[in-house]
Amino acid sequence: MQTVTLIPGDGIGPEITESVTRILKEAGAQIEWDIQSAGSDVIEKEGTPLPDRVIESIKKNKVALKAPVTTPIGKGFRSVNVQLRKSLDLYANLRPCKNIAGIKTRFDNVDLIIVRENTEDLYAGIERQIDEDTAESIKIITRKASLRIAEFAFNYAIKNERKTVHAVSKANICKLTDGLFLNCAREISQKYPQIEYKEILVDNLCMQLVQTPEKFDVLVLPNLYGDIVSDLCAGLVGGLGIAQGANIGEDTAVFEPVHGSAPDIKGQNKANPTALLLSAIEMLKYINQKNIALKIERALFKTLNDGKSLTFDIGGNSTTKEFTDAIIKNLI
Ligand code: NAI
Repeated sequence: MQTVTLIPGDGIGPEITESVTRILKEAGAQIEWDIQSAGSDVIEKEGTPLPDRVIESIKKNKVALKAPVTTPIGKGFRSVNVQLRKSLDLYANLRPCKNIAGIKTRFDNVDLIIVRENTEDLYAGIERQIDEDTAESIKIITRKASLRIAEFAFNYAIKNERKTVHAVSKANICKLTDGLFLNCAREISQKYPQIEYKEILVDNLCMQLVQTPEKFDVLVLPNLYGDIVSDLCAGLVGGLGIAQGANIGEDTAVFEPVHGSAPDIKGQNKANPTALLLSAIEMLKYINQKNIALKIERALFKTLNDGKSLTFDIGGNSTTKEFTDAIIKNLI
């Protein structure tokens, strides 16, 4: 039995968490959940959306499954997600993006991995109001973080039999910051001659991704471009409802979907739990419960391919619960 921190989040978080924990239980996952609430629902009681107990729990258990948490726009609290990733030094954000049989999209040959730097860039949160009409935000790029994320991307490429790594930047404009990121990626690429290394500007990448996504394999990006490009790539394969993710550090990992708390569909029993479920499947592989992971993966892919019980975002009209029931029925 493995203890895993579970953050049900807010918005659609609790609904998709219920779906996923039910499926894992029915599949026989050997997990004891250490449930830690966070986000808008705990602010009033605990004065912060991210109480220390949440961080302590993840530090102790070393692995967490996290549903989305709302970040209020503008003034107020810092993003729970950014804080969590920074305080646990979860420096690599891994976001696989691949077509799934049964989900119709414009492309049928997308299979790429986004490796997003997770601790710095404009997400360092260093902003100030200069005067009433001017504000500034500081973009931090360090050699240490850039080398580390490039190394992670090349290592991932080797371990997963990938062929090419593209380093993505806007180094023609951000010459010092993105220039440093690119220099570090170039330096690390020398250690991996078996992997083809390429560089691309982020605007050109976006254009090429929506025309010929099959040309891309592993992408390594600074934090902000990684955030934006991951949503774009999610759109290539069927949308945010199916886009999984993982935040990885030296000895700790937090698995979470790419999407946010989707307040527009909260409480309507219509959210797609697939992105959280795929994240949970990766988590099961990470904690060495691979057979259970594969069993759930087969049931999920069968349900999606059958096409009879899909949620609205991928062309169906089933509820979250009906979709969950169908997956459980397909567990064999
Ligand atoms: P969002 O990802 O929550 O929603 C964007 C659109 O995708 C909405 O129309 C939503 O209904 C749809 N969508 C998202 N997940 C879905 C699912 N599982 N099934 C069906 N449809 C789905 O992005 P938005 O609206 O920009 O952000 C809402 C809040 O979430 C914000 O406070 C944001 O800061 C937060 N957020 C949290 C993240 C996290 O906890 N890791 C990541 C991204 C955003």
